[in-house]
Amino acid sequence: MADKKEKVLSVNNLVINFKTDNGILKAVRDVSFDLYQGETLCIVGESGSGKSVTSKAIMGILANNAIIAGGNIMYRGENLLEVSEDEFYKIRGHKIGMIFQDPLSSLNPIVKIGDQITEAMMINSDKLKLMYNDLISDDLIRYKNTLAKMNIAIDNERKKLDAFIAETQSKEGRSAEQKAADAKEIAQKKAEFKLFEKETIARFEDQAKEYKAKLNETEKNAKVKVAAYKAEVTEEYNKKKKQLKAALASARTSEEKEKVKAALAAEKEEFTNKLHITKAEAKRRALKIMKEVGIPDPERRYNQYPFEFSGGMRQRIVIAIALTASPEILICDEPTTALDVTIQAQILELINRIKAERNLSCIFITHDLGVVANMADRIAVMYAGKIVEYGTSDEIFYDPRHPYTWALLSSIPDVDSKEKLEAIPGTPPNMIYPPKGDAFAARSKYAMKIDFEEEPPYFKVSDTHYAATWLLDPRAPKVEMPKIVSERIRISLEDKSV
Ligand SMILES: Nc1ncnc2c1ncn2[C@@H]1O[C@H](COP(=O)(O)OP(=O)(O)OP(=O)(O)O)[C@@H](O)[C@H]1O
Ligand SMILES: [Mg+2]
Repeated sequence: MADKKEKVLSVNNLVINFKTDNGILKAVRDVSFDLYQGETLCIVGESGSGKSVTSKAIMGILANNAIIAGGNIMYRGENLLEVSEDEFYKIRGHKIGMIFQDPLSSLNPIVKIGDQITEAMMINSDKLKLMYNDLISDDLIRYKNTLAKMNIAIDNERKKLDAFIAETQSKEGRSAEQKAADAKEIAQKKAEFKLFEKETIARFEDQAKEYKAKLNETEKNAKVKVAAYKAEVTEEYNKKKKQLKAALASARTSEEKEKVKAALAAEKEEFTNKLHITKAEAKRRALKIMKEVGIPDPERRYNQYPFEFSGGMRQRIVIAIALTASPEILICDEPTTALDVTIQAQILELINRIKAERNLSCIFITHDLGVVANMADRIAVMYAGKIVEYGTSDEIFYDPRHPYTWALLSSIPDVDSKEKLEAIPGTPPNMIYPPKGDAFAARSKYAMKIDFEEEPPYFKVSDTHYAATWLLDPRAPKVEMPKIVSERIRISLEDKSV
């Protein structure tokens, strides 16, 4: 049944490393998941498990020292990883919105809240520009993809060269003779790289030229189309305006006059709406969106600065700004972590409501499984850069299989006592040297010998439920999940059936 839903985003075998002074840090290790239309996928895991890095990769905003070492992120048939950062914003950026943990960092402290929303609204509402971008986007992406492929091929080769040079030069105790030989070899490899670079450019050149020519033509046609649309809309408006003006001149009663005037105003508004929106219209819409996200007294709040808002209200503003772009996908990275519990619940409710009203697909990131219960359709549990368990919300809450998921479930504070029941012992591993086998083994009392040696594959629990733990291997001894988890499941299932 899950398969019939439309996949809006698909992450496949994503691998992301970071260059650091201490070595290569493996932040995301072979992550795959799908986001379905209208659903919320929650990504849950402790600090450092790779949640934000994954979402930043989707947004195309990874730090400069990031290396995308494998995989793809498919959105509407395009691999987002192959679209350059600049183009990403132009072409697709308005389709995927993101809300960050700290609302202050995404607001400009010296610009009034209302102006920030209005500005975002105007940027996202230039209809002629949007129309133009839509018309050229396919050809633009194809051209940019070709360039990206070329650059990736060259980059890979350059990385190999750099690695070779670094390795050769780091060898200790080299004799002068050896050094000379190494230098010669390096020089040769450099020459080979230069040749490769030249050949690769030549290999892609023709195609790039062809695509560029097509793009130029498409751009020209798009300009004509947009201009024609504008002319058509303007002409239509002018005609109606003339008619109404005539009607106004011949109107006898003041009531009749008012009616025609109102019609004139409505025509004008429709006209501006068809092309772009005016500042006044943007402001009107900004106020409307402020209302939508639950800002009381928006007219007054419009003229205030971010510091005059509470944390929860600021988060609402950030959500409002994300919504000005009418995104199709909304990524929320720990949107409530900085807030206290009651405010947290309100923001979650708001996100749920907006999601339903706008039929958004949502990726919701949190370290707290407790938050997820009323949000998620599906849950991906992440540990040390990997998804260790993936399933529907019911499967993760009522039939969890990975010891790490058990640990997360054990550490949800109790609804009544609000007490954290069992903290997860130990700390996450150093991701410059990720452990062999199951990364969670060192912290798990269920770990077997093989967990320290070999990485567990994904075992299928159901069509929608997978877990990477050797406990699911037929040869594994049967173990029970922690009492605290099984008891909670028993109680909530009982509650459910009443
Ligand atoms: N620019 C960077 N350079 C080096 N390492 C980085 C960089 N950005 C992230 N990392 C590392 O990548 C790993 C994953 O980080 P990420 O921010 O995705 O964690 P997270 O799951 O979002 O955690 P949190 O709950 O703390 O937000 C961490 O070990 C982090 O230190
Ligand atoms: Mg994070």
